[in-house]
Amino acid sequence: MRVLVLGKGGRESAIVWKLSQSSIEKEIYTAPGNPFTAKFGKNININEEDIEGILKFAKEEKIDLVFPGGETSIVLGVADRLEEEGIKVFAPRAYTAKLEGSKVWAKEFMKKYAIPTADFEYFDKENFDEAVRFCEASKYPLVIKADGLAGGKGSVIVRNFKEAVKTLEEFLVKSKFGKASEKVVIEKFLRGEEVSLFVISDGNRWEKLGYVRDFKRLYDNDEGPNTGGMGSVAPIVLDKETESLIDETIINRTFEGLAKEGLRYRGILYFGLMITDGGPFVLEYNVRLGDPETQALLPILEGDLLEAVILVSEGRYKLGSLRLKENFYSCCVVIASRGYPEEPERGKEIFGIKEAEEVSLVFLSGVEERDGKLYTAGGRVLSVVGLGKSRVEAKSKAYKGVSRISFEGMHYRKDIGFPPTL
Ligand code: AMP
Ligand code: GLY
Repeated sequence: MRVLVLGKGGRESAIVWKLSQSSIEKEIYTAPGNPFTAKFGKNININEEDIEGILKFAKEEKIDLVFPGGETSIVLGVADRLEEEGIKVFAPRAYTAKLEGSKVWAKEFMKKYAIPTADFEYFDKENFDEAVRFCEASKYPLVIKADGLAGGKGSVIVRNFKEAVKTLEEFLVKSKFGKASEKVVIEKFLRGEEVSLFVISDGNRWEKLGYVRDFKRLYDNDEGPNTGGMGSVAPIVLDKETESLIDETIINRTFEGLAKEGLRYRGILYFGLMITDGGPFVLEYNVRLGDPETQALLPILEGDLLEAVILVSEGRYKLGSLRLKENFYSCCVVIASRGYPEEPERGKEIFGIKEAEEVSLVFLSGVEERDGKLYTAGGRVLSVVGLGKSRVEAKSKAYKGVSRISFEGMHYRKDIGFPPTL
């Protein structure tokens, strides 16, 4: 089995690591990959946006299965193109990927199928004045979201009318994210506990893999700017009532809705949820695994990931073949470069990874190798994952690992851990 993983981050490192443990005979390629993924196979110098390049490589090298890590290639239609060539893909097709690729489409879908989500309106470039009037008459905070993909920067929480107008101008008038921000969703701010839910689906059946907490803010106590994620813990255990509400009103309705629309969902569907006093709500859908949630989730999943992914891509997933290990916990601390997320420094030599690996897993992301040495090459540099039979053990191993790593200007949160509530 020749497998091609798309991406170069910590998520893709964890995916390659887990695929490599499969009992199926395999060769793993990663495009473009990083020094960690290179240890398990071959890195190929193709970017995820280069759909033609991926297609050409996959055909020439007789790749059997492609596993896209991030959303970009999926939303661009990598699954459509590869499946036409008879290559298996662990991802939905472009039209279905609008669940992530268009917030307007996703919100309309949720409304149509009575899936709980924040009340909303949407506006485009031509309706700028109307959008301003809507904000004038609204209560604050409000959330303004660019319709399309914006690299995790497309959602802004605005605290008053002035901030709302500024964001509307940036998005609709100045097209901050190009076409992606020519339409916006304006929605009610929801208060509660955020949790990421990962569901695997082969188009015929679905199964929950687990709930993971992602720490999005840059600094301790959830302060500072939003980032791609500074850490994660798993599993998060919800009370029975919340869980059955999620099953019935969110997951079932989503998959029933997709079926009614004639859409087949293959791959991972990631539900960004807010658990409020009034029950669980969907903040967003993503058509892929999360980063850094994957680094915490995959090490505590039992089962052969490669086998499961092949079966999903053939519509024959066996329920129960991936499940959380019992009484096993994981805590992932992300180490970032000084300046992240705005302007991360690069080129700093990294020390101590081998020593950290004695107590934890270390998944690389923004890292480059030169003459056998490792250097920083991006915002999020490493994910250090502690595992254990208790939450305390998982956290303490993660931070023990972190304490053995050093590079100039390294930054990490000191409060990644299991939430007391939930
Ligand atoms: P999204 O781009 O929809 O994932 O939103 C990014 C982040 O903004 C989420 O992870 C939440 O932390 C926050 N957020 C999005 N929508 C809302 C909302 N309606 N109420 C409160 N926070 C939100
Ligand atoms: N951790 C958030 C994401 O992957 O979108």
